[in-house]
Amino acid sequence: MITTRSVPVHDTTLQVHLCGTGPLAVLVHGYPLDHRMWLDVLHSDLQQRRTLCAVDLRGHGGSPWAGDATHGMDLFAEDLAAVIRTLADDGRADVVGLSMGGYAALALAGRAPALLRSLVLVDTRAAADSEAGKEGRRTAMQHVVQHGRRWLAEQMLPKLVAADCPPLPRARLLTMIEGMPVETILADLAGMIARPDRTSVLQELRCPALVVVGEHDLLTPVAEAKQLADAIPGARLGVVPGAGHLTPLERPQEFVALLRDFLPPAGSG
Ligand code: MLT
Repeated sequence: MITTRSVPVHDTTLQVHLCGTGPLAVLVHGYPLDHRMWLDVLHSDLQQRRTLCAVDLRGHGGSPWAGDATHGMDLFAEDLAAVIRTLADDGRADVVGLSMGGYAALALAGRAPALLRSLVLVDTRAAADSEAGKEGRRTAMQHVVQHGRRWLAEQMLPKLVAADCPPLPRARLLTMIEGMPVETILADLAGMIARPDRTSVLQELRCPALVVVGEHDLLTPVAEAKQLADAIPGARLGVVPGAGHLTPLERPQEFVALLRDFLPPAGSG
């Protein structure tokens, strides 16, 4: 059963969605999404080996927008640190971040590595945006204000999932995007524009790490994921056949199998 809890962070409250037993694993969603992208993972047998905690980052899902014009990745990282400090019995968590959630997870790894038992980077990158990428985000900010969230959903969907993605995950995705406060969309885009290159964090990582990517990911392609994994000492790479950018939503069984191999059962050392 999934239970929802409110966790105070320094200037607001986050909703987190919990199930399972054992050490804490924090699941961090991408943009412009919320904890519902992890629903199949929450309902999987991973809950027999971890307390799964799908966070709604500030302004997403059940967590209110706190008035920030920019959702910087360091701000998200501070929030994640507060969640781990509040919920983890041993003060550490396995942190699983997808795309923007991966940017936030890497910011956390740079700021507070002791909070990470392991790190799973899913369909994400360590590099900052290119100038063209930043310009594309500025244009998206203008279009969202002029045309609304439906425009964003229609524009993003083909980039987020593989062409043959079934209707149900597509519908879940549209529901999340169309329910996102416009203020959150703008603050996320501003935060991603401002995020620095975190390649140097990769070499410093000392916890076990897994990089996961969808075979057909257009936004963070397999070649880029391979470079990411190569830059982290001892990291493994898992490619999910048939998936696009949202592997846990599109191919949950294959995604969970990778996590099951990576996350040891509690108490096995
Ligand atoms: C995401 O899935 O979080 C976004 O694609 C991240 C981005 O736009 O860089």
